[in-house]
Amino acid sequence: MIPYTYRNLVMGVDTKIPLDNGNYTVSINMDNAATTPPFVQVLQEIVNFAPMYSSVHRGSGCKSRFSTDLYEASRVTIANFVKADPAHDTVIFVKNTTEAINKLSYRLCNGNEKSVVLSTEMEHHSNDLPWRNKFRVDYVGVDINGRLSLNSLVEKLEQYQGDVILVAVTGASNVTGYLNPIHEIAEIAHKYQAKILVDGAQMVPHIQIDMKPFDSSQHIDYLAFSGHKMYAPFGAGVLIGPIATFKKGAPEYTGGGTVRTVTRSNVTWADPPHKEEAGTPNLMGVLALQAAAKVLNTVGMENISRHEVDLWKYTVNRLRSIPGIVLHCDLDPGKPRIGIIPFSLDGIHHSLVADIMSGEAGIAVRSGCFCAQPYVRKLIKLAQAQTCKKDKQSRDRPGVIRISYGLYNDFREIDVLIQSLSRIVERKDYYIKKYGKP
Ligand code: ALA
Repeated sequence: MIPYTYRNLVMGVDTKIPLDNGNYTVSINMDNAATTPPFVQVLQEIVNFAPMYSSVHRGSGCKSRFSTDLYEASRVTIANFVKADPAHDTVIFVKNTTEAINKLSYRLCNGNEKSVVLSTEMEHHSNDLPWRNKFRVDYVGVDINGRLSLNSLVEKLEQYQGDVILVAVTGASNVTGYLNPIHEIAEIAHKYQAKILVDGAQMVPHIQIDMKPFDSSQHIDYLAFSGHKMYAPFGAGVLIGPIATFKKGAPEYTGGGTVRTVTRSNVTWADPPHKEEAGTPNLMGVLALQAAAKVLNTVGMENISRHEVDLWKYTVNRLRSIPGIVLHCDLDPGKPRIGIIPFSLDGIHHSLVADIMSGEAGIAVRSGCFCAQPYVRKLIKLAQAQTCKKDKQSRDRPGVIRISYGLYNDFREIDVLIQSLSRIVERKDYYIKKYGKP
């Protein structure tokens, strides 16, 4: 178990915030799947480096060279963090996972109308929408618990008979926290000559990712993730993939930094990754990202994963005792997952529950569909099928409440959560009368 002192790694864990009654309480953040707070070490590195901050790739001054070296060295740190293959892969810095996936969608767009991208029913919109206007898109199904069905994957690959160019799958669901067997999926995709993209936004901060060597059938071809979900704000994200993918053609954004030569009539593009990073790069963001990767490595991804799953187990066991709670994920502690729990309370709207948790107990969660509307709608339908209950409010504005843990959350916070939810259930009629049905 992670010692309590690891809370010291993170900024703001003891920040006091106002409640609805005017009192102050220590904030409890259970919304790490949206954004994590920064690591102290990340901010420290930014401050330490700031006096040397200068332009990247654009100056011959000492500080500019120093900044450029640091920026380029960060690619190596990030590649090592996810075990990318430096001889074959390029590490491209972007804004976030969404931008990374959009970038890849432009790069893979081959003008062949037959090409299929297989997304899945559990994807975030960011790993669905970018593919829609460029490829035929189909969706690998999920089972009755909302877990990805490998049978459905194989069926789809069979159905399209070699036309699938990419299987675009999340490493971990931002709704249920389910971990997908990415290496098994890679192996299956490769058998059908398809590549695999892993949306690593929710996976990278919580469990070790190994892209595996190029000659492994389990190799992850493309990986995307964001700094702001791994304790590194400042707006940097990553796309990793084979150098060869990014060599040909023009980048989707052109401009400074993307070229070798320009005349009025001709352009020679720079090699990747530089041709994919138009404009002055986000050095502070990248510095933050690599600093966060180092902290995560020091703590140890196995320790992080174990601690967060322990939090999940403790929470689920305690939540079960709350009358009228519906848990929208499977409850098998042996199944692979990160520390996310989607739930709803019978007869009280998800957004009202989230507002009361914040206003009365200082607990931050997210409610709604989490940018994964098709998946959340499906989970709600599955739950309704099990209970034979239909909830009109859920139909009007569907959604659930999501708890999502980071490495610094602790068991004491969960006790506060349980107290808050028990009180909401006890006083349900009062709240509905007071706030109305949202
Ligand atoms: N996709 C992020 C979430 O799940 C923002 O909350």
